[in-house]
Amino acid sequence: MAPTGNISLTALAEKNAFHQKFIRDEDERPKVAYNQFSDEIPVISLDGVNENSGDRAEMCRKIIAACEDWGIFQVIDHGIETKLMNSMTRLAREFFELPAQEKLKFDMSGGKKGGFIVSSHLQGEVVQDWREIVTYFSYPIKARDYTRWPNKPEGWRAVTEAYSEQLMDLGCKLLEVLSEGMGLEKDALSKACVEMDQKVVVNFYPKCPQPNLTLGLKRHTDPGTITLLLQDQVGGLQATRDGGKTWITVQPVEGAFVVNLGDHGHYLSNGRFKNADHQAVVNSNCSRLSIATFQNPAPNAMVYPLEIRDGEKSIMEEPITFSEMYKRKMNKDLELARLKKLAE
Ligand code: SIN
Ligand code: FE2
Repeated sequence: MAPTGNISLTALAEKNAFHQKFIRDEDERPKVAYNQFSDEIPVISLDGVNENSGDRAEMCRKIIAACEDWGIFQVIDHGIETKLMNSMTRLAREFFELPAQEKLKFDMSGGKKGGFIVSSHLQGEVVQDWREIVTYFSYPIKARDYTRWPNKPEGWRAVTEAYSEQLMDLGCKLLEVLSEGMGLEKDALSKACVEMDQKVVVNFYPKCPQPNLTLGLKRHTDPGTITLLLQDQVGGLQATRDGGKTWITVQPVEGAFVVNLGDHGHYLSNGRFKNADHQAVVNSNCSRLSIATFQNPAPNAMVYPLEIRDGEKSIMEEPITFSEMYKRKMNKDLELARLKKLAE
């Protein structure tokens, strides 16, 4: 049986080795293949997002409809430089190709904030995800701990900084569109965030000998306001809107970002915008890379519905801080996992 401490998953994959720690219960296993693509998730051009035109109104309408329907959409013509996106993914891949001892210099399994880790970093996780990640906190700037940012491959730090900055702009632009779609002032959502935090998680899913038994990343909703996901052309991101009965694999679109609404966005819109349930599946043919940029509110930002429409009630019992919201979410997830285990 292969060992599974915090060693490189890539090394496990190279040996074609698997371990029962990755085996999911049957109801959690993939139902749809990584490359059985669906075009149900709308792909929306952001061309003209800064203009006050009829096209912009139409674009906003499409975005709001996608948020109500799936809580997920893709954007193209978003203004992020292609060269920067390519450098970011190339350097990220090169990081994961480094020998395990290099990657483990940034090991965060001991509870450190930011760095490299194999599989899920959630404490108490019973079944492991088939993924390696490297993560860092990029905003607010004072939260940057460069000792936790890999210094290899060369040039990654500069590229990451430029990438974080451009994605912060894109994230803020999208929050403006969502605010307007809710009938609020343009800056309503960013004000509700107090100060926009940003965390980048680079996911690497090595090819997997038993992709039908496991997941690269188990089903979840993102906690923050919105997430901007850059994925390669392999495929593996899946979404559901019927509580997991049916899943679709999101069609990768060259140069696009997948935008997910998170729990914070869901609460601020009083449930009007879905917090997209999603997961990542893996495959035995090739590895996959995705880069998730989480646009989150400040930990002390109060979470409460900004808009309660006629005839609606608040979906929250009381306003709470984002950090409290996050803590409750984590505790609930652990409790559900524990109850599931007890029921076996
Ligand atoms: C994520 O949910 O953070 C990543 C999903 C993916 O890799 O497609
Ligand atoms: Fe996610």
